[in-house]
Formats: sequence, C-alpha cells, structure tokens
Amino acid sequence: MRFVAPWLLLAAALPGAAVAGDAAAGRQKAQACAVCHGPLGIAVAPETPNLAGDPEGYLVRQLRAFRGGTRTHEVMSLMAKSLSDADIADLAAWFASLKVEVKNPP
Ligand code: HEC
Repeated sequence: MRFVAPWLLLAAALPGAAVAGDAAAGRQKAQACAVCHGPLGIAVAPETPNLAGDPEGYLVRQLRAFRGGTRTHEVMSLMAKSLSDADIADLAAWFASLKVEVKNPP
C-alpha cells in the first residue's frame, strides 16, 4: 500500500483551508470590492454585507460557493468567477485581519 502523509488527508478533508492567504496581497486585490464592501470591509452600498473581521474560512467558503455556483447572486457570482484560489485566500486573509469594534446602541 502506498504511504499517504496524514497532512495530505487533512488538507483534502478541509477544502479552502489548504492555501494560506497573504493579507497584504489581499488588500491590493480588495480595491475591486471597495465600491460595495467599502475600503475597510464596512459596506457602503445598500443590501451589501460587511466583510471586516469575518472568519477567514467562512469568506473562503462563500467566495468558492459563488465561483462554483452553489451560492448565487447576480453581482457576486460574476465577481467571483475570475478569482483564483490564491485570490480567494488573499482576499479572505485581508478581510479577516481587519479589526471591528462594536458598541451598544445609544
Ligand atoms: C457591485 C457591488 C459588489 C462588489 C463590487 C463586490 N461585492 Fe461582494 N457582495 C455584494 C452583495 C450585494 C453581496 C450580498 C450577496 C447576497 O445577498 O447573497 C455580496 C456578498 C459577498 C460575500 C458574502 C458575505 C457573507 O456575509 O456571506 C463575500 C465574501 C463577498 N461579497 C466578497 C466580495 C469580494 C472579495 C469582492 C471583490 C473581489 C466583492 N465581494 C465585490 C456586492 C458586491
């Protein structure tokens, strides 16, 4: 039987967790997202979610879902279509790295 390294099995079991994103590269790539999601991931367009501080794995899964068609949205499906795995990892690392502060309502 061929030897299979345990980390390979782990990588196969966790799609999206295998590629480590580069937040600095993601910051550059996120300029294409700023018109709706804001320059720091706080949305500036209506009906658009904030991305700042979201879990990295969640962002990766959503972008892959838009790209793959298991999640659909007229804008996001188009936006995600041209993203590579590395783009998705970098974008997710950038938005996840942003610190969000919340306050109680006045
Ligand atoms: C023209 C506006 C627009 C642009 C540009 C845009 N988005 Fe979005 N994005 C949206 C909207 C609207 C939604 C909500 C989709 C829905 O209702 O399902 C969304 C949803 C998302 C989500 C899911 C968030 C969640 O909470 O589930 C992610 C992740 C995302 N966008 C990432 C990006 C990234 C990364 C880029 C740039 C490469 C980008 N978007 C560019 C409008 C935009």
